[in-house]
Amino acid sequence: MKIPTPADEQRHSLLEIDQYIERLFVPRDFVFLQALRDAAEAGLPKINVSANEGKLLYLLARIAGARRVLEIGLLGGYSTMWLAQAIGPQGHLVTLEVDEKCIRIARKNLERAGLMSRVEIRHGDAQILLKRMVDGEEQPFDLVFIDADKPSYPVYLDYAVRLTHPGSLILADNVIRDGKVTQIAENDKLVQGIQEFNKKLAVHPKLEAIVVTVTREGIDGLAITRVKD
Ligand SMILES: C[S@@+](CC[C@H](N)C(=O)[O-])C[C@H]1O[C@@H](n2cnc3c(N)ncnc32)[C@H](O)[C@@H]1O
Repeated sequence: MKIPTPADEQRHSLLEIDQYIERLFVPRDFVFLQALRDAAEAGLPKINVSANEGKLLYLLARIAGARRVLEIGLLGGYSTMWLAQAIGPQGHLVTLEVDEKCIRIARKNLERAGLMSRVEIRHGDAQILLKRMVDGEEQPFDLVFIDADKPSYPVYLDYAVRLTHPGSLILADNVIRDGKVTQIAENDKLVQGIQEFNKKLAVHPKLEAIVVTVTREGIDGLAITRVKD
């Protein structure tokens, strides 16, 4: 039997706190739970936002009055469902995804939730799709949610700035990674990408930002950014 270490005990209590918040503030909703079950059954990795973070995304979008949302990284459509719910029936959400299997599963989840009519899924590598959007002078977005491959985060930030307007929100998930970002990560491209992103975000002349920690089994972070006037 493994003897629990202080780190295990801390992790345990983080999960308990997360579950406590979820029980109180995130009503159990069949279509949201089924979306996660279907994604797991189809073998998609469990790298979606947590229920509490989904609710946080929803609230931030509501507070900002966002109508046009861009998401980078769809997976099974779980965060998409939270954001699509926030923008209301008149809203439009564009989401970018490279993996066809993810798109198939997400489409089913969004249809079951009655949200597909306000969501547009674009298939392909996000950097290519984003360049196309900038070149095509796409109408600016009120909120951008970055949640795809971590080494590309600094590039996604540049595109997000070009595709938003003063007052828009730019959110980015997984920017703490159990604290790995606080240390030198010589052989970890993923952590290096996030470190570069965080540094760039902190000093960007057009942005004002903060990172809030979010917990589940471990500790991660959500970057919350406002495009300056
Ligand atoms: C962390 S998951 C997204 C989770 C989702 N936002 C949620 O919380 O439900 C990252 C997704 O980004 C996609 N992805 C990774 N690299 C990509 C790229 N270069 N272009 C587009 N999508 C990419 C992956 O296939 C994966 O589905």
